[in-house]
Amino acid sequence: MQIAIDGPAASGKSTVAKILASKLKATYIDTGAMFRAVTLYLLKQEGLITRVELWDQNLADIEIQLEMTESGQKVFLNQEDVTEAIRSQEVSRQVSKVAANLKVREYLLKEQRRLAKDQDVVMDGRDIGTTVLPQANYKFFMIASSRVRAQRRFDELSKNGHSPISIEQIEKDIQARDEYDRNRKYAPLKKAEDAIEIDTSNMTIDEVVEKMLTFISRNA
Ligand code: CDP
Ligand code: CDP
Repeated sequence: MQIAIDGPAASGKSTVAKILASKLKATYIDTGAMFRAVTLYLLKQEGLITRVELWDQNLADIEIQLEMTESGQKVFLNQEDVTEAIRSQEVSRQVSKVAANLKVREYLLKEQRRLAKDQDVVMDGRDIGTTVLPQANYKFFMIASSRVRAQRRFDELSKNGHSPISIEQIEKDIQARDEYDRNRKYAPLKKAEDAIEIDTSNMTIDEVVEKMLTFISRNA
């Protein structure tokens, strides 16, 4: 079984994807974390982030692992725990540029399809329903107003000790990222024709999960 969840930044994809995966005994795969890990790697190597022509030859040195633990999902970049580091503002600011690169996308696409091959998955991202898993059994597209999304991201960053600047700045940043993700050439952020759209602006996490489960059980 494959469940695809796409949508703009901070629309609530990963939160519900994790709950859904646990209820359905499937594996949760956070493809955004994979793009973030590649971005962190490029930022860590002196000057590499601006030298796009060198990215391709560096990809083979990047190993990403996603692990579900008791304290939540952990992300490892070449064996190092980067779960927190990939959420930094610097990574958030650079990730869309990295994700627009065809070589980076091809590299991660292979990995994402491999992960979805032998197990039941709930995968979230921007192009899962359109490109990564076009044959997914269920496809959802989550949306919410940019103000609500900025407020949620602000609360989340504050809670995790990241001391974010302001809600206004976060809103600007996520709008800019969405715009970039929607207009890129390869696998842009887009609702698949057969995806169910859910506006989560005024919904609690439980309500969103309930709605998805109802749809899944009706169409099983
Ligand atoms: O959690 P948040 O919505 O802030 O972002 P994310 O899911 O961690 O994704 C970070 C970035 O990775 C996105 O803004 C996209 O540029 C890129 N991404 C992508 O291009 N394709 C995916 N399937 C997932 C993420
Ligand atoms: O994965 P994505 O970037 O789409 O969003 P997320 O990280 O799942 O959600 C961003 C924040 O919004 C999290 O802190 C969630 O707890 C919160 N959220 C919410 O308050 N209400 C919802 N219906 C969904 C998410």
